[in-house]
Amino acid sequence: MKNKSLLPDDLHNYWTEVANTYQWKKKWDQLQTGDFEQVNIEWFQGAKLNITENCLDRHLEKRRNKKAVIFEPNNPQEATSFLTYGELHVSVCRFANLLIKQGLKKGDVVCFYMGMTPELLIGLLACARLGIVHTVVFGGFSSQSLHGRLLDSKAKMVVTHDGSFRGDKIVGLKSMVDEALENFQQIGELAVEKVLVVKRTQSEIQMKPGRDYFYETLIKDCDIYCPATSVEAEDPLFILYTSGSTGKPKGLLHTTAGYMVHVGNSFKEVFQIKENDIFWCTADIGWITGHSYITYGPLLNGTTTVIFEGIPTYPSPARFWEVIEKHHITHLYTAPTAIRSLEKFGNDIPEKFNMSSLKVLGSVGEPINEEAWHWYHKYVGKQRCPIVDTWWQTETGGIMISAKAGITKLKPAHASLPLEGVLPILVDEKGNEIHETVAEGNLCIKWPWPSMARSIFGDHERFKQTYFQTYKGLYFTGDGARRDHDSFFRITGRVDDVINVSGHRIGTAEVEDAINEHPNITESAVVGFSHDIKGQGIYAFVTPMKSSADHEILKKEIRDIVQKIIGPIAKPDQIQIVKALPKTRSGKIMRRILRKIVENDLANIGDTSTLLNPECVEQIIKTKNN
Ligand code: WT7
Repeated sequence: MKNKSLLPDDLHNYWTEVANTYQWKKKWDQLQTGDFEQVNIEWFQGAKLNITENCLDRHLEKRRNKKAVIFEPNNPQEATSFLTYGELHVSVCRFANLLIKQGLKKGDVVCFYMGMTPELLIGLLACARLGIVHTVVFGGFSSQSLHGRLLDSKAKMVVTHDGSFRGDKIVGLKSMVDEALENFQQIGELAVEKVLVVKRTQSEIQMKPGRDYFYETLIKDCDIYCPATSVEAEDPLFILYTSGSTGKPKGLLHTTAGYMVHVGNSFKEVFQIKENDIFWCTADIGWITGHSYITYGPLLNGTTTVIFEGIPTYPSPARFWEVIEKHHITHLYTAPTAIRSLEKFGNDIPEKFNMSSLKVLGSVGEPINEEAWHWYHKYVGKQRCPIVDTWWQTETGGIMISAKAGITKLKPAHASLPLEGVLPILVDEKGNEIHETVAEGNLCIKWPWPSMARSIFGDHERFKQTYFQTYKGLYFTGDGARRDHDSFFRITGRVDDVINVSGHRIGTAEVEDAINEHPNITESAVVGFSHDIKGQGIYAFVTPMKSSADHEILKKEIRDIVQKIIGPIAKPDQIQIVKALPKTRSGKIMRRILRKIVENDLANIGDTSTLLNPECVEQIIKTKNN
């Protein structure tokens, strides 16, 4: 028997109307089934489709010669390249034919570990064309992290670059893949059979016969058309790993139809896109932002999207403004951390450029502080461009709370109102919904929405536990928020053990586990602290076994081990070596106290007398880094 939908009528009607604007091979029998108690959510049951027909084929009649992708290389001296919708369609078809020839089929998983070039976007769409599941691993993660993700996702193929340009550095991606495939075999059996290498830096690399192939060689023989496989609404589209408050990174599983409907619609609604707009999202495709608003969102709407290979400060901190001028960018979507880091170089830098093409500015990834908001508004948007502060998560797939550009009233540092079809609420500690308009509480979502993650790949139980256990019948976001008299939401930040470093989520437990791998470390506790540029930084308290160890050497070794196990993004900014960590009598580390210490909020440390070792608190305060 089919599950009944409990979705209220207005949500039901809204999503039906939105879904009807897409191209389906077969429409759904039921719009939505399942609920947050069972955690068995489905959308568009019975429907068949292919998301790439909606991203590409559908546009060919009117937009064949319109630019789909603008590629801005790391080095501004290198020529920019373009792909029209017609060309992108051909490229995707050829890549899909390559995958078929290599023996991949619907339901297989392909992992992408690449720099930001058009082949990455093309590769994702090629997978989607065939019902192959993609999983992108950000190129800043270590070979050990890559190994873990390959193991968990059971990927059969890895697509990589020989190397990737990042500012004045080259990241040796292929050699990291080699390490991931060869150095950790003891941890588990990988399913990877093939490695496809796209040439980019012409770096010298090892190619293993029978396993490694050059993309350039194989693609030559691939036909320019490939029919789009018909997939079910709930067939998986991709897996994307993200950190949580406990355990290993989780592979969030997103499925096809719901993701398409919500992501395409939120892009249109939030950014108020017009036909000739040029949309630039500065994120990396390795994060959800790059999936939803570089790749799928713009293409579903027939918009021109920019792929930027570089970093904001190379070759100079004027790079963003140069790119805006050069490509007549109308929409800039970036992170508060990037805004703060560029602001630091002075107001006169953006003023040297003609940025009159800009119409809308976006912010994502972390709460934007008022100061950065005003700078962004004044010096980038010249007081003319609305800022949309978009709140969402890897788990939500698409934007959930945001102003609509030019429609919603602007209020600095407020994500503002939920999108239509989305119902966020605030709950108190006990999980009771707070009905007063003006309130503060934990942010939950009350009803299923189409682009929500359906599971954690391979561990549905953990999915239930993580998001649906804290408050029964609700999806818990892990964020706290305030709501004002206009019903505008202001996100205050994570309320769990997750640190948001430069808009990237780092689980404290994961960093602690990495630090504890050091032979001279007994235990560690990691907390976040306010950081001018990054939003939050990572502060690690560690207890060495041998207190005689040279502290500077030990700190360097700790940074190195975190870089090796997780990647450079998780390296602690501050390390404090302590004799003991504050613990409860049952042995639990009191991170709350450590957080108060790093924030210099000593007045609110609270009663420490019930601790197992109250004396260590004083000690930690005395020896605290500056
Ligand atoms: C966490 C999700 C959404 C894509 C990028 C990050 C924080 C995200 C905002 C915002 C305040 C924000 C939240 C959220 N966050 N956007 N506009 N205002 N906080 O995706 O890595 O899944 O992280 O980022 O804390 O839970 P993510």
